[in-house]
Amino acid sequence: MNPINLDDYEALARERLPPMVFDYYFGGADDELTVRENRLGWQRLRLRPRVLVDVGTRSLKTTVLGQPISFPVLTAPCAFNALANPEGELAVARATTSADIIQVVSTAGTYSLEEVAAAAPGGARWFQLYCYRDREVTEWLVQRAVDAGYLALCLTVDAPLVGRRERDARNRFGLPPGMTWKNLERVGLDRMAQRDQGSALVQYISEIWDPALTWDAVSWLRGLSELPLVIKGILTADDARRAVDHGAAAIVVSNHGGRQLDGTMTTSESLAEIAEAVGDRVELLVDGGIRRGTDILKALALGARAVLIGRPYLWGLAVAGQAGVEHVFDLLRDELDLDMALAGRPTIESIDRSLIWQPKA
Ligand code: FNR
Repeated sequence: MNPINLDDYEALARERLPPMVFDYYFGGADDELTVRENRLGWQRLRLRPRVLVDVGTRSLKTTVLGQPISFPVLTAPCAFNALANPEGELAVARATTSADIIQVVSTAGTYSLEEVAAAAPGGARWFQLYCYRDREVTEWLVQRAVDAGYLALCLTVDAPLVGRRERDARNRFGLPPGMTWKNLERVGLDRMAQRDQGSALVQYISEIWDPALTWDAVSWLRGLSELPLVIKGILTADDARRAVDHGAAAIVVSNHGGRQLDGTMTTSESLAEIAEAVGDRVELLVDGGIRRGTDILKALALGARAVLIGRPYLWGLAVAGQAGVEHVFDLLRDELDLDMALAGRPTIESIDRSLIWQPKA
């Protein structure tokens, strides 16, 4: 099959990846309601296109935290990219750099943050952080991200514990021999020991992450470096206000792709609520179930500056390495370009709330 959309990539990746890896990437928590609903949330929204607008030339360029990007998509931080392809995060770094977009690099990478930076010099990237029980480990990671030229820190706040991912429990998900949690190598926290039962990931993480984190940690993290702090994993207006009050430079409206609490609002619903509350005070990003150009159009209309995609770039990576990731970006970019033309919105700035249909109460 010659993939012509992101679902085609998912189907091809399903054929090629070992079932344990496909399940780890694809799956979510509990009944996977939120995995499905995220996608449906975007699909349920309806567009109100304008006609006879000059769309002869279009521009998809925008900025996020002042960084110019070629179109409003970033790669979401996803753990263990090398399970999809041996080049892992390095291939994604090259693909995002050649596409002129931002890579958000996961703490849980199969390559170190320095290796990722060195793979594509000059590329724009943010470093995603979890907070460790040992605060010095977090401080050390922040300093390394600063030294390696990362442009922002992205603190993920929706995972005090790991969601109940039953596929991983059934498969006894663990990393293959030789693959480690590379960023934590020098402090001896890099190895997820194989376990007799259940998901090794869940057991490992519960030993090293700090589930007692509160808003104080946000102030503490801000004091560690000059880098702007992005908070990822907020779903309500109340928490969004608190994030802004604590100095967040941007918020990623996210439910972790349905991998944490199952049965939350969809991110399209949360984005609408949050944009109304703080949309004029902070840059908003959103992820979860974005698979089409029209999904991006709807997210921007609801107030997002850009979107993140998670699983789709892993599918691209699994199917064809760096070229597959680049093709996933090309497909999304081409869809968005056409959709903007058909919606009568030739620039990113011209995409506004009036593009979303609201049924009369
Ligand atoms: C993730 N996600 C994630 N988030 C994060 O902050 N740190 C991480 O290490 C990971 N790891 C991770 C692994 C895998 C395999 C997936 C699929 C996801 C969540 C990710 O950043 C993002 O929020 C979702 O993937 C977005 O949803 P879609 O685009 O996958 O539907």
